[in-house]
Amino acid sequence: MDLMTPDNIKHGLYTRVLGKEIIYYTKTTSTNDMAIQLAENGAEEGTLIVAEEQTSGKGRRGRSWLSPERSSILASLILHPDVDIKKAGIITMISGIAITKSIRDLVQLPAFIKWSNDVVINNRKVSGILVEAKIEKKIKFIVAGIGVNVNTSKDQFPTEIREIATSLSIESGRNLSRIYLLQEILKQFEYRYLRLKDNDFSDEWKSLSNMMGSYIEINTSDGMISGTAMDVDDTGALMIRLDTGQIRRIVSGEVSSQMIL
Ligand code: BTN
Repeated sequence: MDLMTPDNIKHGLYTRVLGKEIIYYTKTTSTNDMAIQLAENGAEEGTLIVAEEQTSGKGRRGRSWLSPERSSILASLILHPDVDIKKAGIITMISGIAITKSIRDLVQLPAFIKWSNDVVINNRKVSGILVEAKIEKKIKFIVAGIGVNVNTSKDQFPTEIREIATSLSIESGRNLSRIYLLQEILKQFEYRYLRLKDNDFSDEWKSLSNMMGSYIEINTSDGMISGTAMDVDDTGALMIRLDTGQIRRIVSGEVSSQMIL
């Protein structure tokens, strides 16, 4: 059993910044909440918080994130990126790229990014990203929370999400090392994070997503919007062409259905 202890994670981890400091919990409320507390108290850039189990794991839009103990990657990174507030969305993009590439490279499964914060395999969600930021005129810190269902079996998912969620073990038919996968995610993340200031990741993001050109429905704070996904800009916002032909830029929302045209 590969426990996510700092020693296990650090052994074979060749990053410069991410995971230099690792804080490990066998059980905690939420790694994002712990990371926010630590960041408030001055935790260093790249500090990684991991847990075997969360009692109040947080998803987006106030939902909870459930994962049986020791089955998943539950990790949060503390970051102090030196970029404009408008570009905070890039951290979500980089997280999605790092998770998707790592799954493809290590597990050889057809993972895709689903705008904005999900990674899916065969249209089922395998990973979710929750980025939280403290902003006071400029970015004080960002917490990038990553949940990946690694060795979760189908019957461990609550019935209401059983048909829309998946895990790497369900998709590959074998149990996988959470440690190797987390190390790869950190490596892929850091490679891009250190180039954050002068780079545009939208092309790479698009190449790992299967959404472009599809007709989608998005749940936004302005209600349901449907149209064809055209582009993702360098801040991570989605451009869609509405049925009227008008192009609309969407900063946040949730894709509820996708039809490949
Ligand atoms: C979503 O898809 O709604 C986002 C899910 C994010 C879950 C991860 S698990 C580690 C980190 N800690 C949390 O409480 N949430 C994120």
